Amino acid sequence: MDLEQEMEAQKRQMDIERVQAEVEAKFAAEQQNEDVMLRKIQAQVINTKTYAFILGLAKDTWCRCLFLLNRRLACTLLGRNPVDSNGFGNMRTEVTSSLPSESLGEEDRRRTQEAINTVLAHLASAVYGLVSDPRRALTLTSWLLGLLAGYMVLKEGTLLLRQLLETYLGKPSLVRETSRVGTLRSTNHRLLHAAKCLVRFICEKAGKASLEGEGWSPKRTRSGREEAVNAFRDVVLAPDLKEQVLSLAVATRNSKRNGAPYRHLLLYGPPGTGKTMVAKRLAACSGMDCAVMSGGDVAPLGKNAVTELHSLFRWAAKSPRGLLLFIDEAEAFLGKRSRPDMSEGTRNALNALLYNTGSASRRLMMVLATNRAEDLDEAVLDRMDDSLLFPIPDRKSRAQLLVQYFHKYCATGKDGRSIGAGWGLSSKISGWWRGSSAEGLTIDVGVDERLVKGLAEEVQGFSGREVEKLMLGVQSCAYGSEDGVVTADMIKRVATQKAKEHGAKVKMRAATEH
Ligand SMILES: Nc1ncnc2c1ncn2[C@@H]1O[C@H](COP(=O)(O)OP(=O)(O)OP(=O)(O)O)[C@@H](O)[C@H]1O
Ligand SMILES: [Mg+2]
Repeated sequence: MDLEQEMEAQKRQMDIERVQAEVEAKFAAEQQNEDVMLRKIQAQVINTKTYAFILGLAKDTWCRCLFLLNRRLACTLLGRNPVDSNGFGNMRTEVTSSLPSESLGEEDRRRTQEAINTVLAHLASAVYGLVSDPRRALTLTSWLLGLLAGYMVLKEGTLLLRQLLETYLGKPSLVRETSRVGTLRSTNHRLLHAAKCLVRFICEKAGKASLEGEGWSPKRTRSGREEAVNAFRDVVLAPDLKEQVLSLAVATRNSKRNGAPYRHLLLYGPPGTGKTMVAKRLAACSGMDCAVMSGGDVAPLGKNAVTELHSLFRWAAKSPRGLLLFIDEAEAFLGKRSRPDMSEGTRNALNALLYNTGSASRRLMMVLATNRAEDLDEAVLDRMDDSLLFPIPDRKSRAQLLVQYFHKYCATGKDGRSIGAGWGLSSKISGWWRGSSAEGLTIDVGVDERLVKGLAEEVQGFSGREVEKLMLGVQSCAYGSEDGVVTADMIKRVATQKAKEHGAKVKMRAATEH
């Protein structure tokens, strides 16, 4: 009995120990699980912190970039120095101080290092992936090439568009002034002209003479010769030369009407003798568009001169009325090609001009003006159909010029009416022509045509420009006087003074030539 009880007690003890062991094992397993979980959680926390830090770093860098960009923009707009401490320098300190303080510790530096390493690793793996996968590399290359091609097409397209606009609307940079109007304005002109013709036609048909005098009456058609005489009315030239100029003007006008090729023209002679004046009148009278360029503008363009010249000829070819291209101071770029001091750019520009004017043209008439015709290249001279010499005016021409410019500067109102109609007859013409260019001037009784013409002897050797300047001198002298009266003495005094100046100029010129 006692043995049985003892065995029973031992068995119970063993059960208790087994249960205890099981509970302990379970507890230990649970403990282990908890540890693993804890470690996992810790790892996650670290990862989250790293990502948050990287994000923070990226955000800070972005903010910094934006701030610097803003600052530069603001400085540019306000015209302030970006490093000016009174300007925006303090803002930088504010932003730096507002950065998270954690970024300053040792731990953060390590994390930053880790983040940079991670980013670089990602970049490296991306590059490796690209190199190892030919398809991806091909796609990327195609994209880059596409972008480059797009950029080139856009750039060239813009250039082409600019050239087209320049051809149709603008004027080439070499052209200083032109009478040619833009496409839009010329269309308006044509429409207006067509409307006028239609109204005139209807009036003629209906026999409504009552419309005459209202601007719609049929114009009295002038002959070409009459128009030319009228256009060159104030150009004073020796009779032979004047006749040559007039017949050229009529011939140009008729060439335009009949579609015949134009003639190229060379005007040469001393300064101030009316070459530019004649070329401009010729263009106006022929009904062509006129473009003026100076030979001196070509050399500074250097290599670009050829391009500019070609664009000028392209523009000329598009002129609806035909273009008279007037090249003033032609010797500056059409000089002999053998000249050692001629630049490569100018020589190429000259070749471009020769290329464009090699044959007779129905679009372009070239008029050259120069003081030194002997300096022009042979090929240029060979292209000229007519060469006109403009000499220093003779005595008769000088007398004519003196009278003409006296009227213009001392006796003509702004509206073009002659206020000196009675000069030499009426004393003190004033008052009624108030508002004229000679406002405030009166012509003294001692001044008559004979006196003005008599100065022609004294102003021997004067060019047309010099005679004009003499009369401008008289006008300015009269304005400078107390009563504003143009007296005979005043005119003689100014003429003597100008003659002296002219003599000095001639001596100077002679000295430099020897
Ligand atoms: N023959 C002329 N008849 C009338 N006016 C003239 C004449 N010559 C010159 N003039 C006057 O002088 C001004 C200058 O003339 P213009 O410019 O035509 O001379 P140019 O021969 O072209 O001189 P340059 O060789 O210096 O260019 C004209 O605007 C005009 O007022
Ligand atoms: Mg000139």
